[in-house]
Amino acid sequence: MTIGIYDSGLGGLSVWRELRRYTSTRLLYYGDTSHVPYGEKTPTQLEGYFWNIVGFFLDQGCEAVVVACNTSSALVLPKVAGKVSVPVFGIIESAVGATLEVSAGRIGVLATRGTVESGAYQAAFQQARPDARVFMRSAPRLVPLVEQGEVHSDVTRQALREYVDPLLAEGIDTLLLGCTHYPFVQGLLEEIVGPDVRIVNPAPALALEVAQLFPNLAKRQGPEDKTNETQFWVSGDPEAFKTTAELLLQEQLPAVRFHHMAGETT
Ligand code: DGL
Repeated sequence: MTIGIYDSGLGGLSVWRELRRYTSTRLLYYGDTSHVPYGEKTPTQLEGYFWNIVGFFLDQGCEAVVVACNTSSALVLPKVAGKVSVPVFGIIESAVGATLEVSAGRIGVLATRGTVESGAYQAAFQQARPDARVFMRSAPRLVPLVEQGEVHSDVTRQALREYVDPLLAEGIDTLLLGCTHYPFVQGLLEEIVGPDVRIVNPAPALALEVAQLFPNLAKRQGPEDKTNETQFWVSGDPEAFKTTAELLLQEQLPAVRFHHMAGETT
């Protein structure tokens, strides 16, 4: 079985590395790098990308799709529910569940502009725990910084401070990383928020959800085994993606291939 997993760029790798831990299936990763950042795109644009990428995955024989992107999960998945012939996983429910497991009820969410404006997290938390206080904050500079591999720099540290300080001022006890790019700056974030605020990376919860739906894929060899075969595809520069991905993941990746979506001019 093959699972297709996509994001605007490198962020979905934070989900990919967890899927690789919890499943032993073949994975096909698509980084839509010619369209990054998704957080600044319209819902109509994002839906168009979704259908192109899902079409590509189905042509490649994928039997499930993981949307490793909060923005598309928030803005596209409610519109396409029931219209895809294979199971499609989004990240919002896993993220809400993982957050509520550890939070006492004052939750900060750092996310893209698109995700914040969608209201998806606000609605999901309201439904799951109506008494929780949820403070949303968009962080538009972070995705470009991660895409450039700037995960330890002072510029990134300063941007994070600016985004997180207002959330800390609200007395949050938990900070949800509401964009799959942000786990790559989790080290800097931990320094900024200090030991009293828990940081939630929802990627493991999403990977577990996928592994539970397909129990025959669950890994027997243990979390350290890295035998899954993954093909990497991008809509932009394959070499730039590979170089920065290897920097973020601290490991070598196989060759990354370019796939141009039919009907697009870029
Ligand atoms: N990593 C994606 C997300 O989780 C998209 C970020 C972007 O391209 O703006 O929202």
